[in-house]
Amino acid sequence: MLDKLEQAKDKTLTAISAADSLESLAEVEIRHLGRKSEMTELLKGLGSLPPEERKAAGRRVNEIKGEVRRALEERRAAVAAAVYDNLAESERIDTTEPGIRPALGHLHLTTQAIREITEIFRALGFVRVKYPEVEWDWYAFEALNMPPDHPARDEWETFFIDAPEDERLGRMVLTPHTTSGDVREMEKKRLPIRMMNISKTYRRQIDVSHVPMFHQFEGLLVDRDVSVTHLKGVLDHFARSFFGPDRKTRLRPFHFRFTEPSFEVDITCGICHGTGEIESGGKCRLCKEGWLELGGAGMLHPNVLKAGNIDPEEWSALAFGWGVERTMMMRSGISIDDIRLLYKSDLRFLHQF
Ligand code: PHE
Repeated sequence: MLDKLEQAKDKTLTAISAADSLESLAEVEIRHLGRKSEMTELLKGLGSLPPEERKAAGRRVNEIKGEVRRALEERRAAVAAAVYDNLAESERIDTTEPGIRPALGHLHLTTQAIREITEIFRALGFVRVKYPEVEWDWYAFEALNMPPDHPARDEWETFFIDAPEDERLGRMVLTPHTTSGDVREMEKKRLPIRMMNISKTYRRQIDVSHVPMFHQFEGLLVDRDVSVTHLKGVLDHFARSFFGPDRKTRLRPFHFRFTEPSFEVDITCGICHGTGEIESGGKCRLCKEGWLELGGAGMLHPNVLKAGNIDPEEWSALAFGWGVERTMMMRSGISIDDIRLLYKSDLRFLHQF
């Protein structure tokens, strides 16, 4: 019986030293030392030995038990230590290794221009606002002195929205210009007004110089005794700040239903400086005649002031507005031959700015 016990002990010790995790050690303990193990079975036989052998056998059994227990505890401690050693190695961080820089983006070219334009007009006290892109016919056309079916509306190739009409405000449209914000601003009933409305605008047009969604910025100044002189001053301030100190503007008579008088604003060409000729004597290829067209402006029509519940006898107003994208592309240093590139989300293009 003792021989068998010695064999069982050897098997158990081998199993203990082979176990390489706390889980497998626990299994070894159950299998070799548990209630149903060979070892336990053999110990039960101890009582059947003759009394003279029993004492010596009992001592040996205790030694074996102690030896196995010790082996088990030692192995357990070693395995546990190894677990922590591995962890220290696998979780190790080399704080001296060069890091991976997070990719840093930048604002879209249009957003940069919008911020710059905002700042330029803020210097003159214009407060930035934003009005709905989905607008009522009333604000986009009718309040701007363009009654239903007036042919002037054709200038704006409008997206109408398939939505129920409002009795007073008419149909819904994707606003074709930021002038729709003028009457909304007047409705706030806070006079005088210096508004800078920069919003998305929509027109049914797409080619190298047009996109269906673009941005406009609109200045509206309502005060007592506002004149074309003020308009010219504001526009010159913008031209100098945005394009450079040597740039000048001129007003060319034009027609809009919502301004009277109305103008188109031109700016001196950055290449030929307003002469229309290049140094070698030929015609300037960019502008041909010295001037580039910026956009529309004028003194607000009395009917528009009335639509905004403002008395045109007491107050007068100047307004101007045009495309952010076009303006930004006219600035020297940015030559983009297809405006649609701006909204293609092609990072190879966008990263350049
Ligand atoms: N809203 C006009 C356009 O989109 C521009 C304009 C604005 C003209 C303000 C006069 C006054 O063409």
